[in-house]
Amino acid sequence: MLTQMTTNQKLIKWVKEVKELCTPDVIYWCDGSPQEFDRLAEEMVKNGTFIKLNENIKPNSYYCKSDPADVARVEDRTFICTENQEDTGPTNNWVHPKEMKEKMISLFRGCMKGRTMYVIPFSMGPLGSDIAHIGVEISDSPYVVCNMHIMTRVGKKVLEILGDGNFVPCLHSIGAPLQEGESDVPWPCNGENKYIVHFPAEKSIWSYGSGYGGNALLGKKCFALRIASHMAREEGWLADHMLILGITNPEGEKKYIAAAFPSACGKTNLAMLTPSLPGWKVETVGDDIAWMKFGKDGRLYAINPEAGFFGVAPGTSMETNPNAILSLQANSIFTNVALTPDGDVWWEGLTNEKPEKLTDWRGNEWTFESKTPAAHPNSRFTTPANQCPVIDPKWEDPEGVPISAILFGGRRATSIPLVFEAFDWHNGVFLGSIVSSEQTAAAEGKIGNVRRDPFAMLPFCGYNMADYFDHWLSFMHRTEIEKLPKFFSVNWFRKDEKGKFIWPGFGDNIRVLKWIFERIDGEDLAIETPIGYLPSDGAIDISGLEISETQLKAILNVDKDGWLTDTKEIREFYGQFGERLPKELIDELNDLEKRLNNY
Ligand code: GTP
Ligand code: SPV
Ligand code: MN
Repeated sequence: MLTQMTTNQKLIKWVKEVKELCTPDVIYWCDGSPQEFDRLAEEMVKNGTFIKLNENIKPNSYYCKSDPADVARVEDRTFICTENQEDTGPTNNWVHPKEMKEKMISLFRGCMKGRTMYVIPFSMGPLGSDIAHIGVEISDSPYVVCNMHIMTRVGKKVLEILGDGNFVPCLHSIGAPLQEGESDVPWPCNGENKYIVHFPAEKSIWSYGSGYGGNALLGKKCFALRIASHMAREEGWLADHMLILGITNPEGEKKYIAAAFPSACGKTNLAMLTPSLPGWKVETVGDDIAWMKFGKDGRLYAINPEAGFFGVAPGTSMETNPNAILSLQANSIFTNVALTPDGDVWWEGLTNEKPEKLTDWRGNEWTFESKTPAAHPNSRFTTPANQCPVIDPKWEDPEGVPISAILFGGRRATSIPLVFEAFDWHNGVFLGSIVSSEQTAAAEGKIGNVRRDPFAMLPFCGYNMADYFDHWLSFMHRTEIEKLPKFFSVNWFRKDEKGKFIWPGFGDNIRVLKWIFERIDGEDLAIETPIGYLPSDGAIDISGLEISETQLKAILNVDKDGWLTDTKEIREFYGQFGERLPKELIDELNDLEKRLNNY
């Protein structure tokens, strides 16, 4: 067992306080070594949390199923606790910090009894880089430790770099103390009492009751988005729910693009895309989170603060996303997928034909005739980013990569075209503010309902969303306009009358990226419409595709009535922000409505 590995007084004091509050049996300081991962994984195999996968098929990899009451982020249990409710804003849950702290302290009292308390020092961003930020997660879940090993940079090195410096304290408990003699369950959690709590003023996180994904891997959504977005606003940078990719044309010219899509709307897939057009290349910098700052040259540069992918499993296959499949062949954790009889994993969409027999994500026998899904729709793989065959050579560059375009998208069966370009920065921020999507299984709640998810940040913005819009607008004045990225809107998810996706998506999305690439270079391939610049006839390369001209026209059209309905709904959505909403956005909305009415 490791003892304390730091002289950082704030950290020592915090660990001591947490120990006294949570009363664990043992304290363990994580060193981040592969041996540590193996040892914890082995312990989890012994107590039934992990099943080791077949070493010949998926070396050093583990299968895990969660409690069915703990399968996704819990947005209605997520809180931003600021002194004044207005600073949290109408789109976040708020409780006064004093009241919430009392509540948290009462929940955390004695909550680690019978368990080990792991101290996990981690870095978001490359170790030691200027833009990286250090956090320390205290957790009573060894599953969290193993996932943090993959998703972040963990261990001794982090403490060395931290020195006497500051860190974000991230306190996590599954909320399941063990009484004397009580035996453990494979996935302990607290189904009734989940709280994912952020205190922006002291930059701390308290998460209770859940062991799953963004609820528990606190470096990800809690730190790198909610707390970081708050820091970013104070310090003049951006923390966003965006993938980052590099795209190279057949002539060898390379650009970097960031894209904000809501959860389970295609970031991982776009970030690793295998182009169906010859000569084009896509490389991955990040698949979920981007931190962006101005470089010395006045351009916006992005880094991926993570070290791994926590990707949606269902739908991932050698056909849709071969680079993800190739990444997850080893050293990976699979949560809530299905298990094959030979000790491999399976999920819906992995293969064209269903296997005869499986163990499903609940641990029940499953056959190809079963009516229920074998893998949970929000089942995930955790896999190291450096195993991705198309990881970008600059993915760990502390300088980041210069961003030429920012894409917004969501799942919309109707109205929103395949792609269009914003008129300018204000109009682009407006497009970001009106992102909408059918809800997915990434969060608890009704699936399929269309909701506004501005900048794909609705569940992740750590302060008033109206101020966030203002922050984005302000970037126009921080550099020369021509140095700023261009904005685009994309939608891969338009459906026909039969409910079938019209656009083939995945590798064919390169056809849209190609148009975007050419538009960044100012090529004359667009027509002006009320909503923005749409591709002109023939501007989207559909060579070799089985899509009809009529279908293409349908997804590259301005659906006047659909948009007018949307503008009404946007006005209502905007209404909740009152006076705090930047006037520029209301102007954009009014102008759009006028242009549509005259169309
Ligand atoms: P989070 O990790 O939750 O933030 O999600 P994400 O945005 O990274 O989504 P991901 O790329 O994992 O995709 C989610 C689901 O959408 C998967 O089932 C994909 O197969 C599916 N998907 C992704 N891209 C496309 C596409 O171009 N067309 C269609 N039809 N489905 C897609
Ligand atoms: C998302 O829901 O957007 C995710 C998965 O990327 S989680 O880490 O659970 O937030
Ligand atoms: Mn995400």
